[in-house]
Amino acid sequence: MKLLHLDSSPRGERSISRSLTQQFVTLWKQMHPDVPVIYRDLGRYPVPVIDEAWITAAFCPPAQLTPALESALMISDELIAELLAANLYIFGIPMYNYSVPASFKAYIDQIVRVRRTFVVGANGYEGLLNDKKALVITTRGGSYAGEPLDFQEPYLRAVFDFIGVADVTFIHAENLAMGVDERKRAIATAHEAIQQVVETWQSTTCI
Ligand SMILES: Cc1cc2nc3c(=O)[nH]c(=O)nc-3n(C[C@H](O)[C@H](O)[C@H](O)COP(=O)(O)O)c2cc1C
Repeated sequence: MKLLHLDSSPRGERSISRSLTQQFVTLWKQMHPDVPVIYRDLGRYPVPVIDEAWITAAFCPPAQLTPALESALMISDELIAELLAANLYIFGIPMYNYSVPASFKAYIDQIVRVRRTFVVGANGYEGLLNDKKALVITTRGGSYAGEPLDFQEPYLRAVFDFIGVADVTFIHAENLAMGVDERKRAIATAHEAIQQVVETWQSTTCI
């Protein structure tokens, strides 16, 4: 069992999504002290947006890849290797302008890759990242869960499903910009939800 812990807030100490993902990892490690954790910090170390060389390389038959095209996929290869190596994912993703931060969108463009995370089979597109579980913790200034302006959860569900990750749990910490009391309440509610996911995963994950 391996955990992939990913943060995407560009904020450091003040980031609420970082503190919530850390809470999950701390609880999980208390139960599984030896669990290896891969950490990816997109907020501090964003990955590049894909470019023409990347697109050419990704759709090129592997036997025809030149060294230059291979190097265009190096970061994508590294990110996909992390996803394949882990079976539990914990992602911290703030809501930016109703959706994900650009850093996380750049990450998605790097990891959704034909032959590596999806294939086109007899029945159409098939995701390759099966047997994975994901917890996505979002942080939001306002309140959008279940509303038409939530372009974050439906989008993420669609993308994860496309690459085969169908078991995705969301925790939304909302109203974080609605005053101190609301923020405290939202963080406390998120803490409880995280505790519950830890317990559920503990009882349903093969270790
Ligand atoms: C550029 C930017 C765009 C934002 N857009 C939204 C938004 O569309 N909806 C919302 O509820 N909050 C929005 N927020 C508020 C953040 O989601 C909120 O501050 C959250 O706590 C950020 O996550 P973090 O604490 O991990 O950095 C935005 C914040 C920033 C900096």
